[in-house]
Amino acid sequence: MGGIFGFVSREKISGKILYEGLRRLIYRGYDGAGYAFLDDKGKLIVRKKAGHIEKIWKDIGITEIMSDIAIAHTRYANRGWPKDENTHPLQDCHRRLAVVVDGIIKDYENIRNDLTREGHKFISTTDAEVLAHLLEDVTDKENKIDDVIGIGRIVDGVYAFAALFQGDRRIYVLTHGQPLVIGIGENGFYISSDIPSLHGFASEAVVLGDNMAGVIGRDGFTVYDIMTGGEVKQLIRKRVKYPAGLWDKAGYPHYMLKEIYEIPHALRQTINGLMDKYLRLAAMIIQGARNAYVIANGTSLHAGLVSLYYFADLAKIDLEVVSAAEFPYYGLEHVGTGTVIIAISQSGETSDVIRSIKLAKQRGAVIVGVTNMVGSRLTLESNVYLPISAGPEIAVPATKTFTSTIATLLVLAAYTGMHTGQIGQGDVRMIYSEIEELSKRLQHELPRIDRDVTKIVESREGWDNVYVSSSGINYPVALEAALKLKEAAILHSEGVQLGELRHGPMVLVRPGFPVILIKPYEEQALELYDKVVREIKSKKGSLLVVSMDEEGENAIRTVHTIKYLAPIANIIPLQLLAYRIGVKLGRPIDTPPGLAKAVTT
Ligand code: F6R
Repeated sequence: MGGIFGFVSREKISGKILYEGLRRLIYRGYDGAGYAFLDDKGKLIVRKKAGHIEKIWKDIGITEIMSDIAIAHTRYANRGWPKDENTHPLQDCHRRLAVVVDGIIKDYENIRNDLTREGHKFISTTDAEVLAHLLEDVTDKENKIDDVIGIGRIVDGVYAFAALFQGDRRIYVLTHGQPLVIGIGENGFYISSDIPSLHGFASEAVVLGDNMAGVIGRDGFTVYDIMTGGEVKQLIRKRVKYPAGLWDKAGYPHYMLKEIYEIPHALRQTINGLMDKYLRLAAMIIQGARNAYVIANGTSLHAGLVSLYYFADLAKIDLEVVSAAEFPYYGLEHVGTGTVIIAISQSGETSDVIRSIKLAKQRGAVIVGVTNMVGSRLTLESNVYLPISAGPEIAVPATKTFTSTIATLLVLAAYTGMHTGQIGQGDVRMIYSEIEELSKRLQHELPRIDRDVTKIVESREGWDNVYVSSSGINYPVALEAALKLKEAAILHSEGVQLGELRHGPMVLVRPGFPVILIKPYEEQALELYDKVVREIKSKKGSLLVVSMDEEGENAIRTVHTIKYLAPIANIIPLQLLAYRIGVKLGRPIDTPPGLAKAVTT
């Protein structure tokens, strides 16, 4: 993954805009950043350095330049260590062009060997540099777009790139499985890896589909289909509109904390953004399906697991929840006409998800997408999609998008229940009002919960090898809490089903061993819960309980709500716990090393 940003304008623009664009794309990678621009005489200038853009921006002077044309990049080190020479833009032998690439190039070793035999000199150890050398032969030609299209046809992989040539005041772009959008501004055009980053610069975004190439000048742009070579006239356009101040930390020390505090507002946005017509369509598709799968990764997978309980309860529909990483190897023979895939991805770009839905589509399945990124690959590949409308999430550990995805899936299950005749319109209305009520309570109680969590983190040591456990609808919350502890606090943690604790894992519990229990909502599970509590206490484990009713030095009380919303109420203290432990241990909370927000290659 990597983030691409740039502009071509009728007037000179400050490099501050490049800096801001890269900051907004930081979730895509933070191993290095750089930019290329043309000076007044058309000379190509490239500056770059390994490291997080917020640490190296002064060294590369990004905010000091003024130009009418530039491309920039923030890097996730896929191939090649985070070093200056591996940072983008990458260049050809004669330094007459610069290219910024998001993604991976397949078979790059062979291409590199062929080019080396032809005399090309490689500087980096990246796969992406082959594109700069392949483009080298086209530097002098007037009609470079044909060669760019040619590269798209012969170079395999999952990538998107933008190229800038010395003396040519146009940007050339290509998409081959990775996203790229063109923003339409007042005085020119922008390019970016996503739509939200264009906020304030462009009013509208043109979403490039897969296998498209484009040439963008100060007065317009043309997009081509790589396969046919013909111009693409029907392009998807989206409005670029987000609330002001979205990318500021607004006084919070980290984006993760800010995004947790945004949960109440995001929940309201979620229910306001869901449109009856698409909910009905998605519900109809699910209701009429022969079989239905939920596929997702990471946090989205945990939200998907929660939906299992919703659909079973409210619509009497059994879903299969499968990791998108496993789906291609799992029962594909049962996927065909009449299958529905509910594909969940915050970013809408996760490669496992995209690959799985493409496989399912080839077999005749219908796709219902759930995503935070309108215009993403997932929305382009879905038959119908539901936006979760949580607003951009910058911290790598996902928080508000988890809770908004859960709310979306709950509403979808309720609509499906209405279609299957299991529940009535009044029940759906009740669910909406419970979400609103929860949002209000959280708004009020979040600071108190945070204080309680902070006290516990301050008073305890030995946070490592943590078990998080629960059962019923809160079981996926235990899995998600363990993931947050890994990402934000960078400590080993494991989510374990409550009953399963007694089938082996309990052997590790000894004095001081941290075990977090989320009190189950289901009555039937409470006897087991009490038993487990006693067992942990007898082993002198370091017990912490999250529940709606217990308070004290070993408990964090969350807000009261209905069973379906308990996962939202319970995950918040645990997100805060992961955050506060991360702060205590001095972790780079928003940007855990070696991770990007979505795995797109
Ligand atoms: C968790 C996290 C990852 C993502 C996973 C899926 O905090 O960031 O586990 O949840 O990579 O990403 P999306 O939802 O964008 O498909």
